Amino acid sequence: MDYIINGGNRLNGEIAVCGAKNCALPLLGASILTDEEIILRNCPQIVDVENMIALLQSMGKKVKRQGDSVYISGGLATTNAPKTLATLLRGSALILGSTVARYHQIELPLPGGCAIGSRPMDIHLLGLEAMGVTVVSCDEVIHCNGVPVGTEYNMRFASVGATENLVCAAVLAKGDTVLTNVATEPEVVALEEMLVCMGAQIDGLGKTELYIKGVNSLHGVEFDVIPDRIVTATYLSAAVAAGGKVTVTDCCPSHLGVFVNMLSTRFKTKVYDNAITLQADNQPSDYGKIITAPYPFFPTDMQSLVMSLAAFSDRGTTVINERLFENRLQHNANELSKMGAKISVDKNKAKITGSKLYGAKVKTGDLRGGAGLVIAGLNASGTTVVQDVSHINRGYFNLAESLRNLGADIKVSN
Ligand code: EPU
Repeated sequence: MDYIINGGNRLNGEIAVCGAKNCALPLLGASILTDEEIILRNCPQIVDVENMIALLQSMGKKVKRQGDSVYISGGLATTNAPKTLATLLRGSALILGSTVARYHQIELPLPGGCAIGSRPMDIHLLGLEAMGVTVVSCDEVIHCNGVPVGTEYNMRFASVGATENLVCAAVLAKGDTVLTNVATEPEVVALEEMLVCMGAQIDGLGKTELYIKGVNSLHGVEFDVIPDRIVTATYLSAAVAAGGKVTVTDCCPSHLGVFVNMLSTRFKTKVYDNAITLQADNQPSDYGKIITAPYPFFPTDMQSLVMSLAAFSDRGTTVINERLFENRLQHNANELSKMGAKISVDKNKAKITGSKLYGAKVKTGDLRGGAGLVIAGLNASGTTVVQDVSHINRGYFNLAESLRNLGADIKVSN
């Protein structure tokens, strides 16, 4: 499936943001911690989330969806995750901590996901080992056995997924756990909050040090998935690309600090409690120097959006230093060059000099990169074909239709 975009249409109007993929996935993984019902509201209907639901169902959980609400109950019938589903998405790794905590064992085929770098799991596994769990990796399957026991563990890097897994393991562990240098992304904090609502004892919510007192059991909860900050950034970027005035609603501006600051010094923006309006009339010269790093710094997931914005900026030079995923610059640099972009990449640094973009056939390499190509297509003169949008559908709900509703000329072809 491809997107066919005729660039140049200005965008106007309001657009609501869906729940965050990267929040829904760990919350679904955490549902394994109890047999009681978990109700997730605002749970986005996107491919990665549906695959995660299928994974839970295949292991015995009862899951039903009604619109944006997902109801999960019952226990696991097996702790062996099927390879066909586990390898479809990186998020499958997020059943590790909760399954070990609740069932004291798991067999998890190495998770799949976007080809953006090597994505090892050493921090997850060393953390579990520190809690007394035996971990063996063999033939691309992780085997864990043992009851997690409270410990002190300092993560060598503030990994989002490792924090989520280790917090889930610690809430039902025997004794107290101290986790230091943990991730503080809003999606991690939402998980910590849901666990507390389920009866977990966690001190330090949203901080880099967590004190967790293991409890015997957790109970059900009804919880809202937080708005997707990356989708929010994508819609704002679309407004910049096409020009016009767009209000993004149902979002959480405080989760987009650095990105919104970057735009508000270059465009007319109004930030409300749960909405952002952006008006774009001209392109700025450049976006300065961007360095990706864990929250609250510039998110790697918004890097490909900025690469596109910089590519059609007004002749100035932007430098992006991608410090999280080693393969996240080159693919889009190559594709955008087909549209006339001036980008040079040296290892994990890209230098982008703004120029006029024209339509071309480009191919998505990963989810966020795919969204970046759509943004470039909205700005380019002529027709851009973004090939293989299956990557985009993993994380965006009807991106083409949402942009069309704002006035973009974008069609889907098979
Ligand atoms: N890392 C290790 N060892 C580990 C874990 C991570 O070396 O055990 C490294 C990774 O290789 C990477 C860095 O640490 O270089 C960051 O990885 P992290 O674990 O923080 O990322 P993740 O949990 O695998 C989540 C999101 C990603 C997002 C990153 C960074 C989910 C399901 N995925 O991945 O989202 O880019 O955090 O913020 O939450 C996306 O949505 O397109 C996406 C890739």
